[in-house]
Amino acid sequence: MASITGNRLSLHRRLQFLQEHNNSLKSRISQLQHLANIGTISYMIAHEINNLLTPLSSYAALALNNPDDKDLIEKALQKTVKNSARAAKIMESMLSLANGEEQEMKETQLNTLVKEIFTCLCRDFKKDGIVVQTDIPEDLCLWCVPVQIQQVIMNLILNARDAMLRRGGVLTIKATEITDAVQIEVADTGDGIEPAHLTSIFDSFFTTKTNNSSISKHTGCGLGLAFCKKIIDAHHGLISVESEPNKGSAFKITLPKPQPGSI
Ligand SMILES: Nc1ncnc2c1ncn2[C@@H]1O[C@H](COP(=O)(O)OP(=O)(O)OP(=O)(O)O)[C@@H](O)[C@H]1O
Ligand SMILES: [Mg+2]
Repeated sequence: MASITGNRLSLHRRLQFLQEHNNSLKSRISQLQHLANIGTISYMIAHEINNLLTPLSSYAALALNNPDDKDLIEKALQKTVKNSARAAKIMESMLSLANGEEQEMKETQLNTLVKEIFTCLCRDFKKDGIVVQTDIPEDLCLWCVPVQIQQVIMNLILNARDAMLRRGGVLTIKATEITDAVQIEVADTGDGIEPAHLTSIFDSFFTTKTNNSSISKHTGCGLGLAFCKKIIDAHHGLISVESEPNKGSAFKITLPKPQPGSI
């Protein structure tokens, strides 16, 4: 009898020890996940800032080479002011995302967001044989963190442009309102995506834009779509893609509208 009680006691102590060990491992995993999250977010901040700095440096170089062109110099300075302000906003908003803080959601006109993106991108799409078509109702509003959704659409536009650099094409941005959500589509008639790649494109660091394969000078980091997915998840939305090699790709985003009384 004494030995049974002794065994139970020792099993109980062992179980207690294992439970404490398990709890401490769980808390270590959560610390490591937090650190990994901060690491990815830091890469993403650098990636987004780079998206804004690249067109700026081209503009600045152009302005320096044309010191007598007052209009060009003024435009370059205006873009510098605008993109720097956006870079600061992105940094702030991504750091809050890393800290798990609630971001301020605002009712925002999609048309205004999209127009601003094109003013931040400097190179004219026409120069690359790309026709831009937008079909967004003037009064269509999203409930979102504006700077984040703007970067999502910008990443989709940049990918669409990369996919059409070879032979030009059509970039279409359209949006519709359904009962409880807004649907946005960014489509191109470019290279398309290999079916085998479709399950990987939203993973961090997946890219096919390597030195050898990329026809633009731009080699990818594979962070654009991972960023898009993170932001759309944080907005409780969905992002998906349909694509066919050599025909093009269409990225679709569904963003929920706020429920009455939830604001
Ligand atoms: N519109 C598109 N057309 C064809 N392929 C695409 C398109 N969008 C994404 N892809 C594919 O998905 C991959 C991942 O895209 P993602 O934006 O995450 O990274 P990237 O563009 O390669 O690099 P980064 O955006 O970090 O500069 C791309 O390398 C490309 O293979
Ligand atoms: Mg990209």
